[in-house]
Amino acid sequence: MSAQEERIVSARRRAEDLEIEAGLRPRRLSAYIGQEQVKQNLAIFIEAAKERGEALDHVLLYGPPGLGKTTLAGVIANELGVGFRMTSGPAIERQGDLVAILTNLEPRDVLFIDEIHRLNRTVEEVLYPAMEDFAVDIVIGKGPSARSLRLELPPFTLIGATTRAGMLTSPLRDRFGVLFRLEFYTHAELTAIVQRAADVLGVELLPDGAAEIARRARGTPRIANRLLKRVRDYAQVRADGVITGDVAREALAMLDVDDLGLDRTDRALLLTIIEKFDGGPVGVETLAAATGEEVETIEDVYEPYLMQLGYLERTPRGRRATALAYQHLGRRRASTAQRGLFDEEA
Ligand SMILES: Nc1ncnc2c1ncn2[C@@H]1O[C@H](COP(=O)(O)OP(=O)(O)O)[C@@H](O)[C@H]1O
Ligand SMILES: [Mg+2]
Repeated sequence: MSAQEERIVSARRRAEDLEIEAGLRPRRLSAYIGQEQVKQNLAIFIEAAKERGEALDHVLLYGPPGLGKTTLAGVIANELGVGFRMTSGPAIERQGDLVAILTNLEPRDVLFIDEIHRLNRTVEEVLYPAMEDFAVDIVIGKGPSARSLRLELPPFTLIGATTRAGMLTSPLRDRFGVLFRLEFYTHAELTAIVQRAADVLGVELLPDGAAEIARRARGTPRIANRLLKRVRDYAQVRADGVITGDVAREALAMLDVDDLGLDRTDRALLLTIIEKFDGGPVGVETLAAATGEEVETIEDVYEPYLMQLGYLERTPRGRRATALAYQHLGRRRASTAQRGLFDEEA
């Protein structure tokens, strides 16, 4: 088991989440908490498309894992009152697989492609005419007698989700009519999300307990729900099943999640920058090698939240730990003179 899989506060989906997530996903826009601007825009686009009887424009959702991209895609299909077909970039291996999916869509259906940045290039090429002209070109036969045939598709809506919009090719990105970036959730929003989840799961969660869990959820609903599940177990065994503020604090302390939601791995990452690289800047590859994490994991999972907290900075020459990070970890920063001439802010 890798360090990533062991982390309770990882935003990546784990096996234990499947069971809990299925029941917790909101089905309507009104039950989808937060992301207010995205929702306001979507509500208008959805209503307009419905009034015209047309397919909604293709939508690209991007942002860190666990913020509700898959959930929102389902909500959109549901609000449109159309079918929802779900697949992912790595799951589509050959052009024919995608053609089969596309030709089986009903008019105005939503096709959701998760991790769309991981589609292979030849498969991706099928999407261009499909998105633009609602058509696919297939080649029949081999050699000199081969000919190309254009198949019409029903108008449909492609919803793509990615943690890394920057890794999409521009021909693909340009074919999306709407791009939405999901943001980390506020404490109040996360409190509402765990409260709602507790209601759905029939867990007795007092307001203090909800606030405590929300505070440590790194702005991420998936983590909030996972922490709730762990705290529920603790409460059941140690506290008659009721989650008070104290019960939540005790349970979360046992899980080694600090009051900002940082766990051992986050702290190790920051400490590596501080202790081994004098606070940085240090290149992400070097950092990956020094911590035994993958570059992609560092970029997608750890950094976004550490940057949001203002603990980590991305500079052209690498990552730097900020003064706030030193403070949080109880370290003192060497004086500017000791750090030498390489610090831009010196
Ligand atoms: N806006 C939201 N309101 C309520 N619950 C949410 C919201 N966004 C996400 N969730 C919860 O978090 C879980 C993870 O969301 P998901 O859509 O799978 O994230 P992503 O696809 O971005 O990784 C879902 O099962 C859902 O229960
Ligand atoms: Mg998802």
